[in-house]
Amino acid sequence: MDVLDLAKRLGLEPHGISFHVGSQQRKIKAWDRALAMAATVFRDCAERGINLSMVNLGGGFPTRYLKDVPPVVQYGRGIFRALRKHFGNRIPETIIEPGRGMVGNAGVIETEVVLISKKSDEDEMRWVYLDIGKFGGLAETMGESIRYAITTPHDGAEMAPCVLAGPTCDSADVLYERNPYPLPVTLEIGDKLLIEGTGAYTSTYSSVAFNGIPPLKTYHI
Ligand SMILES: Cc1ncc(COP(=O)(O)O)c(C=O)c1O
Repeated sequence: MDVLDLAKRLGLEPHGISFHVGSQQRKIKAWDRALAMAATVFRDCAERGINLSMVNLGGGFPTRYLKDVPPVVQYGRGIFRALRKHFGNRIPETIIEPGRGMVGNAGVIETEVVLISKKSDEDEMRWVYLDIGKFGGLAETMGESIRYAITTPHDGAEMAPCVLAGPTCDSADVLYERNPYPLPVTLEIGDKLLIEGTGAYTSTYSSVAFNGIPPLKTYHI
């Protein structure tokens, strides 16, 4: 409110407000809560003589990684219901800024297994090193928050959990360790894997030349 008020006093024209309900948002209700708050701002602004006309509903629309996500039509219906509930017949202009929900499934990364090792002879857990890691485009595995689907040439074979790591010398370059990733026991160095759902936030996150590794190559079909 204060910012919009200041904008008006500076001679600008307050047009609307924007929010982002959090990326990979699987709770459609999140928009209901945000729109309730937006409607309050619209009403308070109107009392101060500021007539807002636009709500930017942000991104947050999810893409499918390992878990199913609600279909986009359910988001449309849920958001429209919330707009009617909170704005009545005076629904503002709306815009959206979808990111991963629009392009997440439009990309796949091919990677190669560069090393399979164990920390010691007694250790059961395999460490599988790929030629891509946190610095080559998989930054969103930070905190193991985004868990990509990975296919291998051995799919259907017996699986065992692995720590999955990237190729750089940085100790942070570990993708999944707290929650190890199941991969075929027959996996070998040199195998090519496909990391699915990597159309968003990958090549743009790829470092320029960390550890001498060139940025992720992209091919647009
Ligand atoms: C301002 C803004 N809008 C939209 C997006 C897209 O978000 P998402 O990929 O969650 O749809 C982002 C993502 O960082 C953002 O910062």
